[in-house]
Amino acid sequence: MSSPDALIPLAVLVSGHGSNLQAILDACAAGRLPARVAVVVSNRREAYGLERARQAGVPALYHPLKPYTSGGRSRAEYDADLANLLQPYKPAWVVLAGWMHVLSHAFLHHYPNRVVNLHPALPGQFPGVEAIARAHAAYQNGEIEGTGVMVHLVPDEAVDAGPVVATAPVLILPTDTLADLEARVHQTEHELLVSALLSLLSGKG
Ligand code: GAR
Repeated sequence: MSSPDALIPLAVLVSGHGSNLQAILDACAAGRLPARVAVVVSNRREAYGLERARQAGVPALYHPLKPYTSGGRSRAEYDADLANLLQPYKPAWVVLAGWMHVLSHAFLHHYPNRVVNLHPALPGQFPGVEAIARAHAAYQNGEIEGTGVMVHLVPDEAVDAGPVVATAPVLILPTDTLADLEARVHQTEHELLVSALLSLLSGKG
């Protein structure tokens, strides 16, 4: 087991269930990633990912957008304050694990080539929300034969796009309900995210 000082500090941003955060926490705890989750931030108070962080003894911070938009402050100010929130934890990498807010340059310039996003579709397919449901519908309409997941770097404000770190295909079966496909996609994501982080952290990404 590495000493805590030797572990690479990660910040993980979540908006929801946090199953991918859990995959990272578990991989860190098992020594499969030479990293530690130093802080978790959510833009949604009820995000279960915050509870997962607390259960793992990781600082869990809530950073809501609404006070900014209703108070006449810009998204850029929200993003700059998000960077300020992370700063004390000195993350080497920022992982967007189900983070449903497009980050602007006001945040990204603090972490050039150090922000990683996970998306439940292949590059160029179904960017934005409900990607799995759209893939499921596209399959049923005969438009695609399968789907996949990807991990990519986030250099700019493009939605779910950027230099690809890793992809994995996901099979769609004719009998799949949306829930079946979601379960298969998430299982693939949990594995791909950890392996992609391992290659990035070891400089092989
Ligand atoms: C994941 O499927 C992730 O790829 C997706 O949100 C889900 C979060 O699940 N992200 C996006 O759609 C980004 N556009 P989780 O909260 O259980 O990790």
